[in-house]
Amino acid sequence: MNAIASDPKIIHVIERRVSWRSYADRPVTGAVRAELESTIDSPPAGPFGSSVRLALIEASAAQRKTAKLGTYGVVKGAPLFMAGVVGETAHGLEDFGYVFQWAVLGATELGLGTCWLGGTFKRESFGRALGAGEDEVVPAVSPVGYPRRRRTAVDRVFRWAAGSKKRKPWSELFFDEAQQPLSPAAAAPFDKVLDMVRLGPSASNKQPWRVVRAGDDFHLYLLRSPGYRRRFGVDLQRIDMGIAMCHFERSAQALGLAGGWGDRATGVGTAPEGWRYVASWVASA
Ligand SMILES: Cc1cc2nc3c(=O)[nH]c(=O)nc-3n(C[C@H](O)[C@H](O)[C@H](O)COP(=O)(O)O)c2cc1C
Repeated sequence: MNAIASDPKIIHVIERRVSWRSYADRPVTGAVRAELESTIDSPPAGPFGSSVRLALIEASAAQRKTAKLGTYGVVKGAPLFMAGVVGETAHGLEDFGYVFQWAVLGATELGLGTCWLGGTFKRESFGRALGAGEDEVVPAVSPVGYPRRRRTAVDRVFRWAAGSKKRKPWSELFFDEAQQPLSPAAAAPFDKVLDMVRLGPSASNKQPWRVVRAGDDFHLYLLRSPGYRRRFGVDLQRIDMGIAMCHFERSAQALGLAGGWGDRATGVGTAPEGWRYVASWVASA
């Protein structure tokens, strides 16, 4: 498994990524296809150590089996799907979020569109296509292709319903040790890093990530949305946390802020009611 290499362009890539549910009638070929395949073939390990298997699936083949592979009509025209499998371990879903987002950003960097699908796809069909074992799950998939110039009506309705362009204000997401809102100035030099966490995609755009700064350490928590946990058969908000970790680590790396993930669960003090501790970014000199 590879560690993620530092990419100075990653902040720009994170800023550019948005979900696409409508695709141009144009295959992904040549150098872009080769680069995409090499990304899919060599994923990094997740921060908690799970390995995630990624695969590309041709939509044409998939569509021939219509009833067996589908997205309930949400996605139109994608030539390819990217899917992944992970073991059902204690932190498998967080690891999946981290690794799959790494691949999503790789596709974005190649000028391709993507859209996390955790609820609106046929999980079992993709599981069969990927040869998922008994104790493995396909938590999410994504179409991959060139975005259509004009989004379909379904795409626009989804974006509007999820409020996809919006993000919660800093004051609801980021805090200091006294549980007071953390301002960008007080977050420096990590202000841009937290901005990148905030731009992350999350299931139904619920943005369940909460971050507390303690010195140069950043503790990440999950604040669940009521009633959401069992809605889709997979705990999608744990995936959201992995995505946040991916954005945090990659933008810190790009900004030259050295550090790594650690478990500080016993040292973080009391968090507000309902916050579940996930991991801490521990700065290194
Ligand atoms: C784990 C996860 C699951 C998602 N599942 C779906 C889905 O089933 N269908 C869908 O249309 N969008 C899905 N989305 C996309 C979100 O709605 C989208 O990321 C969010 O509204 C923010 O919009 P943006 O990605 O354009 O920034 C999912 C996103 C994540 C992270």
